[in-house]
Amino acid sequence: MPTAPAFAPESDALTERAPAKVNLTLRVLGRRADGYHELSSVVAFAGTGDRLSLTPGGELALALAGPGAPVLADDDNNLVLRAARELDRRVPGLVAGRFGLDKRLPIAAGIGGGSSDAAAALRLLARANHIAPDDPRLHEAALATGSDVPACLYGRSCLMAGRGEAITPLDLPRFGAVLVNPRVPIPTAEVFRALALAPGARLADASAVPAFASRAAMVAWLIGQPNDLEPPAHRLAPVLDEVAAALRATPGVLLARMSGSGATLFALYEDCRAAARAAKQVAGSHPAWWVKSTILG
Ligand code: C5P
Repeated sequence: MPTAPAFAPESDALTERAPAKVNLTLRVLGRRADGYHELSSVVAFAGTGDRLSLTPGGELALALAGPGAPVLADDDNNLVLRAARELDRRVPGLVAGRFGLDKRLPIAAGIGGGSSDAAAALRLLARANHIAPDDPRLHEAALATGSDVPACLYGRSCLMAGRGEAITPLDLPRFGAVLVNPRVPIPTAEVFRALALAPGARLADASAVPAFASRAAMVAWLIGQPNDLEPPAHRLAPVLDEVAAALRATPGVLLARMSGSGATLFALYEDCRAAARAAKQVAGSHPAWWVKSTILG
């Protein structure tokens, strides 16, 4: 595999983190007439992620670095560039520039790698162009780029609803967490298709998210609020059963489940020390998997 250059932002560059997004719950409430699914998902953000820089001025461009860069090398449709073009369409005279992406998260993995990169691009362009963070054009450009981008633009724990456009801030306890990806990409559209819901179908109403007095109270609630995309994703990628079993066998695990449309699974722990121990165990027995311990929330 070709190697990518190390991430080295220019001295006059602005930088932003693009954290991994984790869907702690993901309820599919139905399917809209336009084909998108109506969702209700509690989302949290991890301490780990990609990094993006922008040197403002000149033509829009993107340079890739980091371990994930070779996989993205030929993608002219990278979500960073798409987000920049969507904002340019809405903001006359937008100053763009050269982006540098340090790609660390796995691709098509259900932890919003591309969506978080796109959101970081919008935040960088907003800073470079003195656009207020709550300017509706940023939100519109985010949704036009992808359903997960508005939540990533918000960047903190929230309830994501509708197709992904309705964001309600949430105050959640912090957890130690382990993210595991068996390096099997699963295209989101395929997982939704495997649900085989007809347009107009209605399955359930959204449940309100209560306030949690403790991590234990939150875990008890999470157990009753699964990720509805997990069964179809496991059918498409049976290795996910093995990932779930490996995480459930770690000491101190509070909950293990899939994020988004997969194939990344996460597990929650009381603190980052328990998470680091668990990550060591999983990585030791499965050296080919991507395993990361982090903080969530
Ligand atoms: O919005 P985005 O391009 O990220 O979505 C990728 C695909 O996932 C969509 O084309 C659609 O098939 C599916 N999707 C969906 N309902 C959602 C979000 C995504 O059906 N709320």
